[in-house]
Amino acid sequence: MSGKQQLIEKLGDRSAVIGVVGLGYVGLPLCVRCVDAGYRVIGFDTDPEKITALLENRSYIEHIDLGNLLPAGERFHPTGDFSQCTETDVIVLCVPTPLNAHRQPDLSYVIGSVNAVAPYLHPGHVVSLESTTYPGTTEEEVRPLLEKPNFRCGEDFFLVYSPEREDPANPEFTTRTIPKIVGGSSPACLEIGRAFYGNIVDEVVPVSSTQTAEMAKILENTYRAVNVALVNELKLVADAMGIDIFEVIRAAATKPFGFTAFYPGPGLGGHCIPIDPFYLTWKAHSCNIATKFIELAGEINTQMPDYVVSKIMEALNDRGKAVRGAKVLVLGAAYKKNVDDVRESPSLVIIEQLLTLGAEVSYADPHVQRIPKMRKHDLAMESVRISPEILAACDCVLVATDHDRFDWRMIARHAPLIVDSRGVYPSGMANLYRA
Ligand SMILES: NC(=O)c1ccc[n+]([C@@H]2O[C@H](COP(=O)([O-])OP(=O)(O)OC[C@H]3O[C@@H](n4cnc5c(N)ncnc54)[C@H](O)[C@@H]3O)[C@@H](O)[C@H]2O)c1
Repeated sequence: MSGKQQLIEKLGDRSAVIGVVGLGYVGLPLCVRCVDAGYRVIGFDTDPEKITALLENRSYIEHIDLGNLLPAGERFHPTGDFSQCTETDVIVLCVPTPLNAHRQPDLSYVIGSVNAVAPYLHPGHVVSLESTTYPGTTEEEVRPLLEKPNFRCGEDFFLVYSPEREDPANPEFTTRTIPKIVGGSSPACLEIGRAFYGNIVDEVVPVSSTQTAEMAKILENTYRAVNVALVNELKLVADAMGIDIFEVIRAAATKPFGFTAFYPGPGLGGHCIPIDPFYLTWKAHSCNIATKFIELAGEINTQMPDYVVSKIMEALNDRGKAVRGAKVLVLGAAYKKNVDDVRESPSLVIIEQLLTLGAEVSYADPHVQRIPKMRKHDLAMESVRISPEILAACDCVLVATDHDRFDWRMIARHAPLIVDSRGVYPSGMANLYRA
């Protein structure tokens, strides 16, 4: 039996061992899914705190339920020791793909993880890259690091790219139910990729190349970034005309075809939408093509925190108050509702701008007790507990994130002035400004 056929059989009878590299928002739920699907899983991470937490059965991501990982015991093993890759048959890479200080792709985590696993690969191994990246990464960056004269891609090992489509905290979709796009470096690689993912998700969407799979993911996220920018721009227009943009979108969304609703907000956040399109921009430059939509969307979306701050200034000004010395409570530090993720969150930019203007800023977020130190931000702030007294003592309350756990009625009853960037409150409400 060929190595390929043997592996497909091992995947089918669940004797294959899966290695997941990078145990974050993407890798951790993937471990849970692979264990649920009946595999033994080894999880690798360079962050010793994550390994310790997992060994102590603690999830460090609020919305991720470790579920079957814990009772499974011997079927999940977290480690920082990459030599244990020798025990695996499949390695899935779920490491970060940020932008560097010049807003160019930073592939150091991808390269670092590929180099960490490469010495331990054996004939028949499958490597799948799931990190979001520009078209060509798998072939141009990953493959050369793995391939040797006597260890050839498509024959001795198999390489696939399968983008992750996680929507954190969305209860309607899980790793199993979200269709998985898979592209292979060769027809044999694609066949193995389909066999692996076909055993853990309900639907596999095969495509003709790794580049197509990489581009499909960037298209999805660019589509979102551009459409959010469009409604953010229209929000400014509607606001200037005294029209409620949220009412407009609700009305437009009744059209049963040709319209998908996107909602404005205080700016883009998270590890994906503000970043991924710029991976394509960088690559497109090498083909002498400018990605004008991506650039424009980025420009509009990154200006939204400025708009929110200007609305706070206007609201305070209408009450004869300056921002300097004003007590501003920001509701929500996370970039979107019901998650604990503050990466690229516009709330942090807004808080920094208000502090620079001399406001006394506090924040409340039931999902983020403390704002962690990050590459771009070092706020060292702790969440306050909202109460009628705390609200009444503020000069202005900003709705930055519309978490379900906020008591919106109580907030409206006690806050003297509300600036709402999420359309939580109906326009026309007393003491309300839309931002
Ligand atoms: N977060 C999402 O909702 C989401 C959705 C779709 C796609 N993605 C993509 O998935 C990838 C991972 O994102 P994430 O949100 O899970 O990131 P994350 O920061 O939550 O997790 C990444 C993990 O990788 C670890 N790591 C870094 N370098 C490593 C190495 N060399 N070896 C082993 N572990 C290493 C980090 O310690 C961290 O635990 C990114 O490319 C992202 O764009 C994320």
